[in-house]
Amino acid sequence: MIRGYVAGEIPDYQMSSLAMAVFFKGMSAEETGYLTRAMIESGSTIDLGGIQGPLVDKHSTGGVGDKVSLVLAPLAASCGCVVPMMSGRALGHTGGTLDKLESIPGYRTDLSVQRFTELLGRTGFAMTGQSERIVPADRKLYALRDVTGTVESIPLITASIMSKKFAEGAESLVFDVKCGSGAFMKNLEEARELAVSLVRTGNSLGRRIRAVISDMDQPLGLMVGNFLEVREVVEVLRGGGPKDLIDLTIRLTAHMLILAGLQPDLQSAEKECRGKLEDGSAWDKFLENVELQGGDVRTVQEEAGGPRAPLIEPVEAGESGYVQRVDAYQIGIAAGLLGASRERKEDAVLPDVGIELKKLQGDAVKAGENLCLVHGREAERIDAARSIVQSAYSIGGQEKRARERVMEEIRDDDLGKD
Ligand code: URA
Repeated sequence: MIRGYVAGEIPDYQMSSLAMAVFFKGMSAEETGYLTRAMIESGSTIDLGGIQGPLVDKHSTGGVGDKVSLVLAPLAASCGCVVPMMSGRALGHTGGTLDKLESIPGYRTDLSVQRFTELLGRTGFAMTGQSERIVPADRKLYALRDVTGTVESIPLITASIMSKKFAEGAESLVFDVKCGSGAFMKNLEEARELAVSLVRTGNSLGRRIRAVISDMDQPLGLMVGNFLEVREVVEVLRGGGPKDLIDLTIRLTAHMLILAGLQPDLQSAEKECRGKLEDGSAWDKFLENVELQGGDVRTVQEEAGGPRAPLIEPVEAGESGYVQRVDAYQIGIAAGLLGASRERKEDAVLPDVGIELKKLQGDAVKAGENLCLVHGREAERIDAARSIVQSAYSIGGQEKRARERVMEEIRDDDLGKD
C-alpha cells in the first residue's frame, strides 16, 4: 500500500481510509513496525556502515527552549558515540534545531550525504537537515493526515518519526517525549502511550530504544529564541548554565551511552557525561563542529559575539508572591511573534529575537521585579509579545516547588511483548 501510494497507484481517498481506520482502531507494535519498515523502504537510506563506533541518536518531540541537541551531540560524541543528527525547523510555538544552529553566522545545515558522513567520521557528530529523498512516503502521508484529521494517531506518529530516524542511519535511539502545554502531547497518559509505542515498535524492528518523558509545561532553561539559546548552550558547554537543562541533557546522553554499550548503568554513564562537560571535551567538540560546518567560531567564543536584538524590554511582575507557572505554550507563541519561529514552512526566522526568562516556577518575586526580558526588533511586536508573556506567568501567594523535568523513563528491557 505504501509503495503503491508513493508511486501514485493508490489514490488519496483510499489512503485516507487506511489512515482513518488506523486512527480509530490503532495498530499493534508489530503492525506499526511493518508500516515503519515500508515507509523506510519508500526512499533512500543513509548507509553509515563504514563509520567506526556506535551510531546512536536522540529525537525530541519538540518544545519551547529545547536546545538539548546542541549540547547532547558534542557531549555524546566526546564520550565515544557517533551521532548522525538530522533535525527540523521551528514551526508555530516550537523551536527548531536547524534555525538555532543557523543563527551562528555562517553555519551551514545543508550538508550533502558525503560531507555529513565525512564530518561524522571526523568529529563523531554532524548536524544537518533532512534529505528530500529520505522517506518520501512520510511527506505524502503527513500532508494527507493533516487534511483528514488523522495526525494525532499514535501508530501513525510512531511510524512517521521512527522511519525517518532509522533511514538516517541510527542504530539505536533515545526519545525525549515532551509532555505539557508546550508539547505535542499535553498530558502524561498521551506521552506515555507514545513513548511505549516508540520503544515497542523499535524493538519489533530489532532496535534498542529508550524513551524519557520530560516536562514541557514550562520552557527548558532560561532562553527561548535562536541565538539566545546558542548562548545558553555555550554556557552549559563551558561548565555553567541552568540546572534543568544540564540534568535533562545528561540523562538523555547517559541513556545513549548505555544503548551504545559504552557504559553499564545510568550512574556511571551520568558520571562520564559530567566529566566530559567539566573537562571541556564537549566544548572542544562543539567548536570543532562549528568550524567544520562553516560557522564563525568567534561568535560563540566571545561573550559579545553573535547577533543581538536592537531592543530589549522587561516584563515586570504586577504583584508579589511565588511564580506558580510559566506557561511554555504562551512563551513559545510570544517568541514566535517576535520572529523566532514561523507560522508557515516558507517563512524566514530571525536569529536575535526571543525571551530571556528571569523568574521560573517556584521563584519568589516582588511587584515591579523583572519576570523576563523581551528581545525584539520592532516596538509593536515587542508590546504584543509582552502582553502574552505577562499572561504566561501565574503568580500566587503559595510557595511552589518546581516540577521535576524527568517525569518517567521507558526502557525496552522493562517492557514485555504486546
Ligand atoms: N512528528 C513527526 O515527524 N511525525 C508525526 O506524525 C508527528 C510529529
